[in-house]
Amino acid sequence: MKKRIGIFGTSGMGREAGDVARACGIEPFYVARDEIEVAGWIGAGEVILEKEVGAYSHYPFVIGIGDNEIRRKVALRFEGKLDFSNLVHPSATFGYRQRKVINEAQGVIVAAGVRFTSNIAVESFVLFNQNATIAHDCVVEHFVHVAPGANISGNVHLRQGVWVGAGAVINQGDDKRRLTIGMNSVIGSGAVVTEDCEPNGIYVGVPAKRIK
Ligand SMILES: CC(C)(COP(=O)(O)OP(=O)(O)OC[C@H]1O[C@@H](n2cnc3c(N)ncnc32)[C@H](O)[C@@H]1OP(=O)(O)O)[C@@H](O)C(=O)NCCC(=O)NCCS
Repeated sequence: MKKRIGIFGTSGMGREAGDVARACGIEPFYVARDEIEVAGWIGAGEVILEKEVGAYSHYPFVIGIGDNEIRRKVALRFEGKLDFSNLVHPSATFGYRQRKVINEAQGVIVAAGVRFTSNIAVESFVLFNQNATIAHDCVVEHFVHVAPGANISGNVHLRQGVWVGAGAVINQGDDKRRLTIGMNSVIGSGAVVTEDCEPNGIYVGVPAKRIK
């Protein structure tokens, strides 16, 4: 029988997570919050309602929702009720023992072409989007989203809920002190971050400056 995985989210990120599942030979089905979301479905595959999820609880799930706060709320709502698995595209590459680190988390999605080098700590419900790179000795906390093509250099600490935009670069910290992006901060697309960022900020530009 074909393996299946439930994906919360029916928008772009959800469909992209479904494609990662298919690349792994796993058939995705999708979980919509309500009938309005079902009516807007443009993808391929079965869509169920969130209230029906109990009947599917023998399957693993991931949360294919790009918004860190919404993803956190879904994770909390179903904590202990569903088995949140990890979904890793076969084209992602990993340094020594790095794949094991991801396996020990839950709800992590790694899209096509992501590259991890060595000694990177990864917590749960993190999204690594296509072609992102994460270098040695980084720490990536819960509910982070790394958008396509972002480059996280060595010795960087992404605190919980950080959102790194497409093509952004985070410069390296050092082995005594990681460059740290504060909780829930957003790094704009194409930014180059050269120093620590405070929590709850929005940073853009080269070098990145706080705008909000
Ligand atoms: C950083 C970001 C979140 C800011 O969004 P916002 O809070 O709605 O900000 P605004 O659109 O009001 O822009 C505020 C100012 O910052 C500028 N700005 C916005 N994003 C910028 C960016 N990435 N780089 C440089 N400047 C940027 C705007 O031009 C505007 O400048 P102004 O005040 O001189 O007119 C958003 O622009 C962004 O970069 N998002 C990431 C997109 C992405 O990576 N998507 C991938 C999806 S997987």
